[in-house]
Amino acid sequence: MSYDDAIKALSNDALKHVKDNSVIGLGSGRAATALVKSLSKLIEVKDLHIVGIPTSLQIKLTAEEVGITLVEADQVDHIDVVFDGADQIDSNKFVIKGGGGALLRENILFSLAKKVVVMADKTKFVKNFSRTVPVEIHPLARTSVTKNITKLEGIAQIRTLERGYPFFTENGNIILDCDFGTIKNPKTLSQKIKLIPGVLESGIFLRKPDIIYKAKTGGKFDIL
Ligand code: A5P
Repeated sequence: MSYDDAIKALSNDALKHVKDNSVIGLGSGRAATALVKSLSKLIEVKDLHIVGIPTSLQIKLTAEEVGITLVEADQVDHIDVVFDGADQIDSNKFVIKGGGGALLRENILFSLAKKVVVMADKTKFVKNFSRTVPVEIHPLARTSVTKNITKLEGIAQIRTLERGYPFFTENGNIILDCDFGTIKNPKTLSQKIKLIPGVLESGIFLRKPDIIYKAKTGGKFDIL
């Protein structure tokens, strides 16, 4: 069974957190895409009144395609539940996000949400974070933030597209993928990153998910 099948199976289960007349945050990436497709079917079958808030143009286009009513994050004062994927999840249930560059809007939605549901396959689960941390920064803070990341014993690299052009986020910013090796204290590190002038968002989110779905092989999954 493929990754997509496994995520599809758990995204159907995750929909039990959706109630009628609710505001649903739509994360970005493959897991969020599977969820959006399942959600549209649920809305149709049960005739639900749901409003979705997209975290990126990627998920907005998917949600539009399947007919989910959308508004933007600044038009609501709360979100009932956010569904999103993750790039890595540590043993304390902190998550690293931003592999697709949507971290700024994703974290805004996490902060507005009564419930955060994260869905990821088993390869993303680690004891301590070991991948790079995406950090969204203002382009003009490139040099100063890089220097400050070095002071935090990290190595910052500008994210680029395939042919070497810099990657720009939907907010007109750039991303530094920062290598800190094994991260033993993600909360403190994220707090320090966020204090650097010019940093708009750190990929280590301080709001932990309320529910985590871990996709396993054969379409099975655990709920943490
Ligand atoms: C987007 O910036 C990311 O935070 C994604 O949510 C994350 O990369 C997970 O994506 P997948 O579900 O595609 O692995």
